[in-house]
Amino acid sequence: MGAPVVGRLRLTPDIRRFGSLEAASRALARHVSARAREAVAARGSFRIVLSGGRTPLGLYRILARRHGASFPWAQTFVYFADERCVSPRSPDSNYGALRRALLDHVPVARKRVLRIRGELRPPSRAADAYDRDLGPPPRGRGAPRFDLVLLGIGPDGHTASLFPGDPALSARDRRAVGVPRAGAAPFVPRVTLTLPTLASSAEVCFLVAGADKAAAIARILAPLARSRPTLPAARVRSRGPVRWFLDGSAAAGLQDRPTVGP
Ligand code: 6PG
Repeated sequence: MGAPVVGRLRLTPDIRRFGSLEAASRALARHVSARAREAVAARGSFRIVLSGGRTPLGLYRILARRHGASFPWAQTFVYFADERCVSPRSPDSNYGALRRALLDHVPVARKRVLRIRGELRPPSRAADAYDRDLGPPPRGRGAPRFDLVLLGIGPDGHTASLFPGDPALSARDRRAVGVPRAGAAPFVPRVTLTLPTLASSAEVCFLVAGADKAAAIARILAPLARSRPTLPAARVRSRGPVRWFLDGSAAAGLQDRPTVGP
């Protein structure tokens, strides 16, 4: 059964559908590399927030293997959208998966990787520590904290570890908060960036693939939803564009137009 079509979504420059997750990941890797070079040329550094989950692992491997030389890794600062409160050696650790896919293969200085210390106990200590570590925006007040935020979504429309109905969605005075009860597997406490912190970015890019995400995409991107965002991912903002890189399955509810790329 196809995804429910809600308001016949239209492809726009910010909503791009690809023939496969691989094609979407290659396009997004090119986009991230271009933004990184622009940021370094303009401000001497590139500050990126990386998403957890499985979907972006192919993107991270592409960035490591095909963009190793042209990417300004030496000027890059890496942050995390969220983390599971587990050891970095746990198979559930976003940092662990990201380190294996990307960080072990590129010359980013360890001191420029701001890891969420999910192993701290109680989990609230991990959230407090990241909230403190993030500190004030690095380029003074008013400037966006991040140049680019990469995110995914779950079938329920969560993003990072901001789950539907969770109090973390209302956090306004914190950069990072704890999420004692995750709304999706793995059901362990989490630490997540807050919506205002995600919004303190020059751009957000979502990478979404799979038929199990199609209904959420249809709800998030329907014109109606834009006016009344209910799902967490629909509430994500940036100072600039929020872009969607989708494979055909996740984009099943989009207006029928040619798919971009192979
Ligand atoms: C996490 C992620 C989460 C993820 C979505 C999609 O810690 O799980 O930050 O928000 O992006 O759950 O996960 P998949 O890419 O594995 O489908």
